Amino acid sequence: MTTLPHRILGALDRFNAAHPWDHNAHYHRWILRRLPRRFDRALDVGSGSGDLARLLATRAQEVHAVDADPVLTARAVAATPAAAPVVFTVADAPAGLPDGPYDVLTCVAVLHHLPLDEALLAFRRRLAPGGTLVVVGCARARSVGDHALGAAAVPLNAAVGWYRTRGRAAQRPLSMTAATRPPERDFADIAREARRILPGVRLRRRLFWRYTLVWRAEP
Ligand SMILES: C[S@@+](CC[C@H](N)C(=O)[O-])C[C@H]1O[C@@H](n2cnc3c(N)ncnc32)[C@H](O)[C@@H]1O
Repeated sequence: MTTLPHRILGALDRFNAAHPWDHNAHYHRWILRRLPRRFDRALDVGSGSGDLARLLATRAQEVHAVDADPVLTARAVAATPAAAPVVFTVADAPAGLPDGPYDVLTCVAVLHHLPLDEALLAFRRRLAPGGTLVVVGCARARSVGDHALGAAAVPLNAAVGWYRTRGRAAQRPLSMTAATRPPERDFADIAREARRILPGVRLRRRLFWRYTLVWRAEP
């Protein structure tokens, strides 16, 4: 027998599926505000549909976008104007990342797909002096704070979905077709590792089941 809470959750799932919006792209403008107005070289790790790489290209001389998925990368290439200074590469991070150095390194909703320590060390090594690392990540909800923030996001998520789709049923954007996986590590665990590898790093839990990490390399 289906209980009332199950029916409500089912209805909410169907509503969200009909009014999709991209929680990762929601943070793209926020990321740009953490970056210098102009920079030379940027690397976007796990670039998916290429939306962030194209945004970075409005400020950079050169953007390298790396993703493990060849099909999605081909679609990202097709969606990118030929004149945009973005080079897409299919490779497995962190081992297959280009060497750098980079003035900007971004990684959105990808870090939980990678071995955490190895990836953070690889990012640190690739940053130029004074360079900026910005991660938008996904963490497993464990603490009361994690669950409270997640619960607060539920009605907001539906409201934003309704607003962005103008109340009409919509298709998922290309960016939401990328492979996903549930995060295994919680925010406290990620923060502990990040502080060890990136001294002075700033981390914050965010709405819509994300956290942010910002680190600047010594000039
Ligand atoms: C949830 S999507 C996020 C994509 C994009 N950053 C965004 O914000 O829309 C995760 C992406 O990470 C990529 N990915 C997963 N493991 C990877 C790895 N080891 N190396 C490179 N990319 C990887 C997937 O192919 C997918 O495009």
